Amino acid sequence: MTEYGKFPAYRPRRMRANATVRSFIRETQISAADFIYPLFVMPGEGKHEEVPSMPGVYQVSLDTLPAEIDELTDCGVPAVLLFGLPSHKDEVGSEAYDEHGIVQEACRVIKAHAPEMYVITDVCLCEYTSHGHCGKLDETGYVMNDPTLELLAAEAVSHAAAGADMVAPSDMMDGRIAAIRSALDQAGFENVPIMSYSTKYASGFYGPFRDAADSAPAFGDRRAYQMDPANVEEGVREAALDIAEGADFVMVKPALPYLDVLNRVKREFNFPTAAYNVSGEYAMIKAAAANGWIDEKRVVLELLTSIKRAGADVIITYHAKEAARWLSEE
Ligand code: PBG
Repeated sequence: MTEYGKFPAYRPRRMRANATVRSFIRETQISAADFIYPLFVMPGEGKHEEVPSMPGVYQVSLDTLPAEIDELTDCGVPAVLLFGLPSHKDEVGSEAYDEHGIVQEACRVIKAHAPEMYVITDVCLCEYTSHGHCGKLDETGYVMNDPTLELLAAEAVSHAAAGADMVAPSDMMDGRIAAIRSALDQAGFENVPIMSYSTKYASGFYGPFRDAADSAPAFGDRRAYQMDPANVEEGVREAALDIAEGADFVMVKPALPYLDVLNRVKREFNFPTAAYNVSGEYAMIKAAAANGWIDEKRVVLELLTSIKRAGADVIITYHAKEAARWLSEE
């Protein structure tokens, strides 16, 4: 190990004495360019409905979507991650891969309104299936892996055809990156990157999201496909598989309880790595702030800095708008 000076010759506090020297040695910077904002699109007209467990987050219909996009552009947030609330759910999640599904239409609306807004789509079936699981079920209620891959591939292609800049599969089926990559390539979308939710845990922190996206499983849970919170090496293997299958980005989700995993994945592969600061993490901050128990701005900027410091290249976060505004005031 490097030999550093010792007290009293070396006094670390000298470099903390004022804002100028602190900024000289600051190792991590965050900016609005690091953020991706999740957006929930719903059918209907004139809809702009706040999610009760996620204050400040709205489900929007296609006609109110442009205003939401303008707000993001004004704050400097460059990208959105789209989730859809379909008008119709069935056993096989048909609206997920319907060319006129809600997410496909939302891609068209955004691209017509603000072509420079970078549109990423969540590729999964749980929002679209009547049973709320992320794939096709067999008669025992088990999510069948290989038959689900075709549906996910069709969904990804339909998003790309509607103008999505990037697709982000979140289902945790085995082999989905290879299936989606080859389907995209065959359809002429070889330039559409894949952000894989490679290392996604079966987490209690998704609770508020399932209200927002109406995607709670009707029975059981997702432990037979999402990862065990106790595992880190398995998360590294998941990322390795997805990189080998053609992912352009890997992800660790949730973020804060899994910063060790994020750091491990980033160091292991030195590959583009996203972190998803999920709904439950957001709800906790909002609840504490609403009670006056924490200084929201300070805590949010600290936690976003921590996620980036741990190894995230980009952060998917519901705090994006507010954080971007706070950063521009500094
Ligand atoms: C869909 C999906 C989920 C989230 C993102 N994509 C929910 C889940 O897996 O149950 C959660 C996001 C959040 O909590 O903010 N599979």
